[in-house]
Amino acid sequence: MAVPNGVSPSNGVASTDNIHNIDVDVLIIGGGFGGMYGLYKFRKLGLSVKLFEAGSDFGGTWYWNRYPGARVDSESPYYSLSVPEVWKTWTWSERFPDHNELRRYFKHVDNVLDLSKDAFFNTIVVDATWDGDQWIVKTKDGGTAKCKYLVAATGSSYKMHYPDFKNLKDFKGLLVHSAIYPEGGLDVKGKRVGVVGNGATGVQIVQELAKEDCDLTVFIRTPNIALPMQQRKLTVEEQESSKSFYASYFNAAKHCRAGFPYNPAPKSFWEASEEERNALFDELWNRGGFSFLLSNYHDFARDKKANTIIYNYWAKKVRERVKDPYKADVVAPLKQLHWFGTKRPSLEQNYYEMLDRPNVKVVDIKATPIVEFQEKGIATTDKRYEFDIIILATGFDSLTGSLIDMNLKDVNGVQLQEKWKNGVYTWLGLTIDGLPNFFMVYSPQAPTALSNGPPIIEIQMDWIVDAITKMRAEKIKAINPRFEAARKWREDIQELNSKTLYPETDSWYMGANIPGKPREQLLYLAGVDVYNRVSNAALENWDGFDIIKA
Ligand SMILES: Cc1cc2nc3c(=O)[nH]c(=O)nc-3n(C[C@H](O)[C@H](O)[C@H](O)COP(=O)(O)OP(=O)(O)OC[C@H]3O[C@@H](n4cnc5c(N)ncnc54)[C@H](O)[C@@H]3O)c2cc1C
Ligand SMILES: NC(=O)c1ccc[n+]([C@@H]2O[C@H](COP(=O)([O-])OP(=O)(O)OC[C@H]3O[C@@H](n4cnc5c(N)ncnc54)[C@H](OP(=O)(O)O)[C@@H]3O)[C@@H](O)[C@H]2O)c1
Repeated sequence: MAVPNGVSPSNGVASTDNIHNIDVDVLIIGGGFGGMYGLYKFRKLGLSVKLFEAGSDFGGTWYWNRYPGARVDSESPYYSLSVPEVWKTWTWSERFPDHNELRRYFKHVDNVLDLSKDAFFNTIVVDATWDGDQWIVKTKDGGTAKCKYLVAATGSSYKMHYPDFKNLKDFKGLLVHSAIYPEGGLDVKGKRVGVVGNGATGVQIVQELAKEDCDLTVFIRTPNIALPMQQRKLTVEEQESSKSFYASYFNAAKHCRAGFPYNPAPKSFWEASEEERNALFDELWNRGGFSFLLSNYHDFARDKKANTIIYNYWAKKVRERVKDPYKADVVAPLKQLHWFGTKRPSLEQNYYEMLDRPNVKVVDIKATPIVEFQEKGIATTDKRYEFDIIILATGFDSLTGSLIDMNLKDVNGVQLQEKWKNGVYTWLGLTIDGLPNFFMVYSPQAPTALSNGPPIIEIQMDWIVDAITKMRAEKIKAINPRFEAARKWREDIQELNSKTLYPETDSWYMGANIPGKPREQLLYLAGVDVYNRVSNAALENWDGFDIIKA
């Protein structure tokens, strides 16, 4: 019988075990999609497993990100687990659900799979060392746990980025990072609110807050090439009637380029006539979601001329919606500022109309950079702006931040931070040389942010489950990837990257958003389907691994 969303009978109570006595087969760090799916899978394998999570509940990204307008850009039902017990008893209310619905979904997953009983919340891992036989993991509140296999599901976007603005601490109003926006929201009515940042988060916040009766100022350094979401309500009936196909949908998502089975463009850019191209652009624009990105002519990722023609189409469409000429020039400039697709486009509903409202000011901080924060607000090279609230939508130390902060050490006691100071080295984006039996998902050097989250997370977690199953069958105590394999993996990624337009753009994909971080492609560009095949092929004969027999 179908259970109404989020109200199935299980208790959702966290583990009451003593954290000092934990000695398990698998310890998972992180309670988002990755951690929850892992807990479910390892239990099915008959292993003992516990999960540590810094937040006070499951949800990961969606536990933390509660800012106004926070919602997914991945369309239903693809932004969900492929586990039948979960999807059979769940329906989404919208094509692109919001953060509140996502948290209800995670509650549902917890209830259906009975996960909380093995989870420790408010538990932050601060140290992990391999003692020759097992991992010794320490937590911030003094706990110590032991495990044979350590799995980091610590996400790509956990460590917040506070830019090094001069005198940031001098601001006497309320300063809030988007990822820790207060639960229940902020009363912005009649207030002067500044938003710094125009990534996917900044776009969503501005679109939402502009509707409020507040005086909103938006600081934009690089305009987002935001695409039409074409949001709509979904009915229970339409979802129930298509559930017969869900297994095929979820399977297709794992065997395509970006974790959503979007139709690829029928030909390459220059094979199509201008007329055909414009017809396709219109079609994809109206379809919404990531269609304009993922069903478009794929050569835009390498071909500057093609990329600019696509950009010009986008700019024309957007400029028709922004009446204020200054605002139009800042948010959709006639001269392209970065290559389409080399930074994450946001999906928007009425962002451009909202920006155009009289209560919204736009400040181009490329032209007039922020000089400093002050007691009352922000000074640019041009002017002072006074605020009651400043929201930093300035992103994350993405992909590597949460891994490095855990104080992971290799067999020689060298910290991950030291190992990766000149660049990231992983084998398959799943393992790290010198860290035996350590695994990670939604990780650097995997498709991660270039794909829909759940399918790539499941592919990686299934790989880990298969690896551990094989180890146990072959009486292997530990696997340790070779540096040479990691060096080659890294080299292949950077080589493919060099043939694209990604290196020409300052993006977090390239580590360029964090001062001092090595500039390198942090993502696997060949696609989910290729990644799935290549990583599983390596497992067959333990390619790239040293094997330590029990
Ligand atoms: C606002 C926002 C919107 C997004 N929208 C989309 C989208 O539409 N589509 C898409 O595909 N992706 C989206 N993403 C990416 C999203 O992060 C992934 O889709 C997915 O949620 C990742 O799941 P995860 O389990 O790997 O990591 P997360 O959900 O990030 O969970 C990681 C967890 O690890 C915990 N953790 C980290 N370090 C420690 C530690 N040392 N000790 C204990 N716990 C720790 C964190 O508290 C966190 O809860 C979005 C990201 C953001 C920030
Ligand atoms: N619905 C969704 O799917 C959704 C929603 C939110 C987030 N996300 C995910 O989370 C990722 C992160 O998104 P995000 O928007 O939080 O972060 P982000 O993409 O890194 O954007 C950060 C913004 O802050 C600006 N910024 C950073 N440092 C600055 C500085 N010193 N001075 C001025 N401006 C500065 C950046 O400008 P520059 O561009 O000029 O550097 C950028 O506009 C996204 O790429 C996406 O993967 C997804």
